[in-house]
Amino acid sequence: MKSLQLLSFLLLSCIIISANAYEGKKKEALGSQSEHTTAKKYQRNLETKFRLYTDTAEGSCRVFVNQLETLDKCGFNASLPLVMIVHGWSVDGILESWIWKMAAALKSQHNQMNVIVADWLTLAHQHYPIAVQNTRTTGQEIAQFVEWLEESVQFSRSNVHLIGYSLGAHVSGFAGSFINGTKKIGRITGLDPAGPLFEGMSPTDRLSPDDANFVDAIHTFTKQHMGLSVGIKQPVAHFDFYPNGGTFQPGCHILHVYNHIAQYGINGIAQTVKCAHERSVHLFIDSLLHKDKQSTAYWCNDINTFNKGLCLNCRKNRCNTLGYNIREERLPKSRRLFLKTRARMPFKVYHYQFKIHIVNEIEGKQIEPAFTMSLAGTKEDAKKLHIPLVEGITGNKTYSFLITLDTDIGDIIMVKLKWEGTPVWENIWDTFQTIIPWRKGTRRPGLIVKAIRVKAGETQHKYTFCPQSIDNIHLHPSQEKTFVSCEDHFQRNI
Ligand SMILES: *[C@@H]1O[C@H](CO)[C@@H](O)[C@H](O)[C@H]1NC(C)=O
Ligand SMILES: *[C@@H]1O[C@H](CO)[C@@H](O)[C@H](O)[C@H]1NC(C)=O
Ligand SMILES: *[C@@H]1O[C@H](CO)[C@@H](O)[C@H](O)[C@H]1NC(C)=O
Repeated sequence: MKSLQLLSFLLLSCIIISANAYEGKKKEALGSQSEHTTAKKYQRNLETKFRLYTDTAEGSCRVFVNQLETLDKCGFNASLPLVMIVHGWSVDGILESWIWKMAAALKSQHNQMNVIVADWLTLAHQHYPIAVQNTRTTGQEIAQFVEWLEESVQFSRSNVHLIGYSLGAHVSGFAGSFINGTKKIGRITGLDPAGPLFEGMSPTDRLSPDDANFVDAIHTFTKQHMGLSVGIKQPVAHFDFYPNGGTFQPGCHILHVYNHIAQYGINGIAQTVKCAHERSVHLFIDSLLHKDKQSTAYWCNDINTFNKGLCLNCRKNRCNTLGYNIREERLPKSRRLFLKTRARMPFKVYHYQFKIHIVNEIEGKQIEPAFTMSLAGTKEDAKKLHIPLVEGITGNKTYSFLITLDTDIGDIIMVKLKWEGTPVWENIWDTFQTIIPWRKGTRRPGLIVKAIRVKAGETQHKYTFCPQSIDNIHLHPSQEKTFVSCEDHFQRNI
């Protein structure tokens, strides 16, 4: 983790250094301003290039504002909705490869749409603070583009969906707030909206829920260094998704830098830093490519509560679908939704809350939680799941935790719980038993697990499991106990 922090630190340092260099640059820019404005007068085109994605060899076709014939030439279909992809800050001045992956994914799954890439590279390939300033200009130009579509081909702005990554998320926000008239753009999706110079700003100075009829955001890299994080932490949408808590993403660990170097050469280092930031993009693409594997996220106060499995509730809009197929519901307040994901596509996991009632018969003796669990499902089994309990097992208490599975195992029909006693533990345990005379006869005390209750987030099904054998309910180190569905217990003879 040390080196990872170093890498993120380097990235942020770049931002900070360029922020300091900014003051000097500003004076320079002022000097050349008159020259710049005269140039602009003759230049009819906007700085932003609107590239309509096509299936041709060229890959895209440029649409020029105020040149109606370019819409026809490029094959813009005004009776279909428009999705516009807006990239972020550019370090190397070229369009990143995810843009075309996203365009292709949008087109292949939902061919009934126009896909345009808003190329603002000339304004984004700048020192970070300058690029930040330019987000307003670009937003303005996108708004003008949409207004022009409205005037020229009666294209309704409610049919526009802006998808902005990093700084592009705020560009989209500005586009939504600068557009003239009372009606709003249909939807804005912010993919890990940029944090530095936006975090804590007023809603008019960043992406906010007022910028479109519906706004959603996916936060994937909000790990903080020196008070700054690459992605914005605060909610900025109607639904704000925080995959894996939003701070950092699985598969983006520093160890993967070697894979990335193998794949991208020395640029692999940049890939590693971008990994968690860009994960927001790939989660969105995933939602387009894997229709049968849509990820559900759940409303929760914070990741710790979520990790206890306490938030898997879907009543009253408490859960929603991450990505393109989100249920568009405008709520008065932003909702933070949490979910876990895999490290690669398809990212979906299945979330379960387990509640286990344990009675520790040895008073005053705290048991280290070292349990594993195996599940038998109607479709598949899941073996040797680590139980993420952090607190020691004392007295008489119900423990709640979150378990995620990569595959759909169907309905759960049986649970096996094993106490993974280490040899050392067992030894102590036995010693302990020989010295202490037990009150209740010769019965060997242990842990009693009375019931295991399960709630499946994805299906909202609830299950209760009881010990298979009522006579032998004590669990000892290295032992495994089987729990069967209580509803079935008396009816079926499993
Ligand atoms: C535009 O899309 C509509 C709806 O799918 C379709 O009926 C129409 O043929 C398309 N127009 C062109 C020129 O492709
Ligand atoms: C909105 O209206 C003003 C005044 O007519 C105009 O200057 C501007 O270009 C329009 N569009 C945007 C996006 O500001
Ligand atoms: C555990 O606690 C519950 C309620 O607090 C009580 O009804 C039950 O008898 C206790 N069980 C044991 C074994 O102490």
